[in-house]
Amino acid sequence: MLVLLGSLRPDSTSRRLAEAAVAALPDGVRAEISTLLPSLPHYDQDLDTDTPPAAVRAFREQVAAADALVVATPEFNGSLPGVLKNAIDWTSRPRGAAALAGKPVAVLGASASPKAAQWARADAVRVLQVAGALPLEETVGLASATAALEGGELAEDVRGRVAELMGRLVREPLAA
Ligand SMILES: Cc1cc2nc3c(=O)[nH]c(=O)nc-3n(C[C@H](O)[C@H](O)[C@H](O)COP(=O)(O)O)c2cc1C
Repeated sequence: MLVLLGSLRPDSTSRRLAEAAVAALPDGVRAEISTLLPSLPHYDQDLDTDTPPAAVRAFREQVAAADALVVATPEFNGSLPGVLKNAIDWTSRPRGAAALAGKPVAVLGASASPKAAQWARADAVRVLQVAGALPLEETVGLASATAALEGGELAEDVRGRVAELMGRLVREPLAA
């Protein structure tokens, strides 16, 4: 399981959701949060040749090797952050051999507003579908994220919803 995290800051609230997702995975499912997203260049079709930049090659290999993905996104101006869209764009190519193709994905989102990154989550699902991945339609959002984490811990109900979604992510591809 590979987590693609859309926030670069250490105190990120979406990172906390991502960590809850990793903690909720069944024993024996290995998981890591990718550290490669910030090193990807901006997508450039002229760089997308048979010999792409080393960072792109490494990231594509990392995504291809994962059985499933978790996308954890903040909401920036009503959508997903550029760093995440860029990572999706790179792994949506080459057509016919894209690392994202057919990959099951669960989407989590955290935002400052009470709407729990609803637009970012919806956009992530739509963009992943267009890119050829298989995102679960159901997502989990963390509303008023900074305030929600003031006590230090994610609320029990949020952890429960994250765990339920991880269960589906792990189960459903096997059942398909
Ligand atoms: C450039 C920018 C745009 C933002 N736009 C939105 C937005 O459209 N909706 C929203 O709820 N929060 C918005 N926020 C607040 C972020 O959701 C909030 O800072 C969130 O905690 C960032 O995620 P992180 O904690 O994982 O870094 C925005 C923040 C920034 C920096």
